Amino acid sequence: MASELDVLLDKVADPTLRADLKRQVELLRAKRRFGLVFEEHLPERVRLPEHSVRRGTRVVLRDHDHDEPHEVVDVRRGKATVRTVDGDMQTVAVEDLVVVADFGEPIYPGLRRLGSLRAGGDKPAHVVIKGENYHVLEALQFTHAGKIDCIYIDPPYNSGARDWKYNNDYVDSDDSYRHSKWLAFMHRRLRLAKSLLNPECSVLIVTIDEKEFLRLGLLLQQLFADTKVQMVSSVVNRKGVPRKQGFARVDEYLLFVYIGDVGQAVHSNDMLSDPRPTEVSSNGLVSWVGLRRRGSEWRRSDRPGSFFPIYVDTQFGQICGAGESLPLGVDRSTVPEREGCLTVWPLNSKGEESRWQLSPDNVLQLRAQGLLRSYFQKGGRTVTIEYLSEGQRQQIQEGQIVVDGRDEHGAVTVRHVGSKVQQAKSVWNLDAHGATAYGTQLVSALLPGRSFPYPKSLYAVEDTIRFFVHGKPDAVVLDFFGGSGTTTHALARLNRQDGGRRQSILVTNNEVSVEEARSLRSRGYRPGDPEWEALGIFEHITRPRITAAITGVTHEGERLNGSYRFVDEFPMSEGLDENVEFFELTYLDPEDIEVSAAFTGLAPLLWLRAGGRGEMIEHDAPHHAVMDTYGVLFNPDHWRSFVSSLHDGVRTVFIVTDSPSIFAAIVSELPASVEAVRLYENYLSTFGLNTRKMVTIEAEPE
Ligand SMILES: C[S@@+](CC[C@H](N)C(=O)[O-])C[C@H]1O[C@@H](n2cnc3c(N)ncnc32)[C@H](O)[C@@H]1O
Repeated sequence: MASELDVLLDKVADPTLRADLKRQVELLRAKRRFGLVFEEHLPERVRLPEHSVRRGTRVVLRDHDHDEPHEVVDVRRGKATVRTVDGDMQTVAVEDLVVVADFGEPIYPGLRRLGSLRAGGDKPAHVVIKGENYHVLEALQFTHAGKIDCIYIDPPYNSGARDWKYNNDYVDSDDSYRHSKWLAFMHRRLRLAKSLLNPECSVLIVTIDEKEFLRLGLLLQQLFADTKVQMVSSVVNRKGVPRKQGFARVDEYLLFVYIGDVGQAVHSNDMLSDPRPTEVSSNGLVSWVGLRRRGSEWRRSDRPGSFFPIYVDTQFGQICGAGESLPLGVDRSTVPEREGCLTVWPLNSKGEESRWQLSPDNVLQLRAQGLLRSYFQKGGRTVTIEYLSEGQRQQIQEGQIVVDGRDEHGAVTVRHVGSKVQQAKSVWNLDAHGATAYGTQLVSALLPGRSFPYPKSLYAVEDTIRFFVHGKPDAVVLDFFGGSGTTTHALARLNRQDGGRRQSILVTNNEVSVEEARSLRSRGYRPGDPEWEALGIFEHITRPRITAAITGVTHEGERLNGSYRFVDEFPMSEGLDENVEFFELTYLDPEDIEVSAAFTGLAPLLWLRAGGRGEMIEHDAPHHAVMDTYGVLFNPDHWRSFVSSLHDGVRTVFIVTDSPSIFAAIVSELPASVEAVRLYENYLSTFGLNTRKMVTIEAEPE
């Protein structure tokens, strides 16, 4: 049907003018943007506290939150002369200034190692990064383009209650650009996130509530055109939060973007209502039962016949035998060791004598049937022994559990089948997803005396992610609005449930809340001061929470109280057998930094690109260096000895050369299984963002 404009155009008498006008109107129509229209808004800006204040840099006052930057025109004896936006000249002490850069200006990201936890043997390490997520997403283009299996994010909901910052300033409900700022903020980050997702099969999950869900839906549709976006409504607070109008709010939403070949989301429960206690609550996974008795009557004295040694092969970890029961009163150290075996006793995490669930004969019988299994945990320091319970063995007989095969130790591999596994529904109403009990209170148990606003229920994140990684034991999951670290915690639990080696990459800034900022300022502190930074989310919450979950010990050195619930129930004090590396995003200053120091700043990115497993090559070497999974050839003249030093575990090599032909020649000498990556001799050029040689970032089609 013709529009009013078409009708008017038809009334133009002059045919040439009419045709010209129609052509121009068509051109305009073709250019018009449909869908979500929002202000691109002022570019965001980042502070670069490690950069020197020098002529030509742009600076703001260190303790002012949202000033317009000044240009430095001169620096002399600790004083900088700056030109303000109004053109006025002022003199300011250099120590009161901090260099800034707008997003999109050249920047050189690096990572500084802050610490690590090692309890997961040779599993990949979870990576937890303190920093501005936009720049971390840019750095991840080098390490993970097209490699991420699942992105799960819980961004600020833009509640109007100053719950997030745009350009270093809290956004409140009086801000008339509130929605536009939020959209610009999300759009920039989601564009970068998109190119990290595996195009063959991956998923983006964004949680959101009533404030922004409509705008977020449109934004996702626009960014991921031709991709299916689905929304799930999830009850997170059954009591409900009263609203001035309408209904009390009990739920929030999850938007799922399915990329490539993502199959049906199946689960043993339909998610619409709580599972019966006897039901397994994971997709077809069978939870093996720990052989050591937990709960009631766990002591050796409660059933002395179940206190006996189990022998486990030192090298491979499989069970090679069981000894006699030890009468009460006989010291276990009197039992002789067996050659080539570890002697495993039922001891709890405090080292107290406990007991097994079965007798020695039962253990040997189940082992012979492949219904008992063992594996090393905590980097080989402990052994976990599990078996299939009588009920589960009955289910095998009845065909509800199928045996798919055997693992390398001869234990059966099993899964649930049949009606128990079904396509989950798009409304979720599970007790396990309650944000108060399993988010706020769980975080308080992990961090006594500290609190974090609105963490997700651990089990909600676990259930959500499980749908998309249960068949991917090596999945990489990214959360760039990490908050209290729930996603890393959930992945660690998922790994425990099926022996997976999944890795999370979690990013969060070190923001303090609006009240804390006020209180810190009133006490004379400013951002960057240790007192201020210690209260930031990463330092105060994320890092100690993840540490407590992995080690089973609080930041105050106390064993954790309480037990996990639902799919895999065990005391939190047992910890989780995972590796974690904590990093801080840094901005390297190309004017200041020497080439060798630059390598140190970039070293973690190489390790991360190679899979984040094993030891890291932290410093450059005269010729080359090789670690567990990757190697770096610093001097191409030494390529022969480098190639011969590569062992079977090496999957990635980095070759430092500016010459494409030297690079190609060395690549032709490498085994086909090894991926080669070229680094510029001036390392910074490889990683410089928004510079001439920047890492390319896929442009979003308009
Ligand atoms: C809603 S919380 C996430 C909570 C998390 N799902 C949990 O269970 O704890 C969002 C987090 O993103 C962080 N954040 C907001 N903007 C950020 C940015 N630009 N870069 C990095 N982190 C940011 C905030 O500090 C906040 O902790």
